[in-house]
Amino acid sequence: MDSTPVIALEDVHKIYPPLLSGDVRALDGISLEIQRGEFVAIIGSSGSGKSTLMNQIGCLDVPTAGIVRIEGQDIGQLSDFDLTALRRDSIGYIFQKFNLIPLLTAYENVEYPLLLKDRTYDTSGRVQALLDSVGIDAALAAHRPSELSGGQQQRVAIARALVNEPAILLCDEPTGNLDSKTSTQIMEMLARLNREGRTVIMVTHDAETTTYADRIIRIQDGRVA
Ligand SMILES: Nc1ncnc2c1ncn2[C@@H]1O[C@H](COP(=O)(O)OP(=O)(O)O)[C@@H](O)[C@H]1O
Ligand SMILES: [Mg+2]
Repeated sequence: MDSTPVIALEDVHKIYPPLLSGDVRALDGISLEIQRGEFVAIIGSSGSGKSTLMNQIGCLDVPTAGIVRIEGQDIGQLSDFDLTALRRDSIGYIFQKFNLIPLLTAYENVEYPLLLKDRTYDTSGRVQALLDSVGIDAALAAHRPSELSGGQQQRVAIARALVNEPAILLCDEPTGNLDSKTSTQIMEMLARLNREGRTVIMVTHDAETTTYADRIIRIQDGRVA
C-alpha cells in the first residue's frame, strides 16, 4: 500500500502583510502529516490560525515559508495550470457559510465545477444522483440557495464538493451555522464519506463533532499545541 501521506506540511509559516498594527504571524512553523483515509479534526480558539492552516492545506494560499505536499507533490513546484487542476480534482471544499453561488439553483451550483472541468453539460444524471444522495430531491434542487434552509444549503455544498470525486474533503466549521440536529445529520454524512475512503479534514469549534474524528490536532498561536 502507498504510505506517502496524503498531506504533509513541513515547517509552514504564514505572515500576513503589514497591517497598521504590525505583521500577523498566523502560522508559526507547522509540521504535520495526514494519512490517506484519516478523519482529522482541527481545533483551537478563534484567531489561532485554523482557517489559515486550511487555506494552505487546500492550496488556496501560498505560505510565507515552508513546504506543503499533496500526495507527495511539493505544491510550490507546480505551475498555475497544475495547481488549478489539483484544487479542482483532488480537493472538495466545504465552508461554514456554504459559499453557494446565489444566482444559480442548487442543481446548477453542483453542476458548475463539472462544467469548469469538462466544458460541457452533464447528461449522465450524476448531478441529481449526488444531490439525491445528500437528501436534495429534484424539486428542491430547482431552488436558489436563499430559498433553502441552512442544512439544505450545506447538503448542496457537500454535493458540489463531491462532484469531481476528490480524495480529500476540507471542511472549515461545516456545522458552525447549523442547529444541533442538523449538525448531527451533516456529521453523519461526512463520516459516511470518510468510510467510503475519502480523507476528511475538519476545523471545528464544537466538541461534539470531534467524536467523529480519528485524531485531533490542536492549534494554538499558529503552532501545533
Ligand atoms: N487576510 C488576512 N490578513 C491579515 N490577517 C489575517 C488574515 N486572515 C487572518 N488573519 C489573522 O491571522 C490570525 C489567524 O486567523 P485565522 O486563521 O482566521 O484563525 P481561526 O480560523 O483559527 O479563527 C488572526 O490573528 C487573524 O486576525
Ligand atoms: Mg476560522
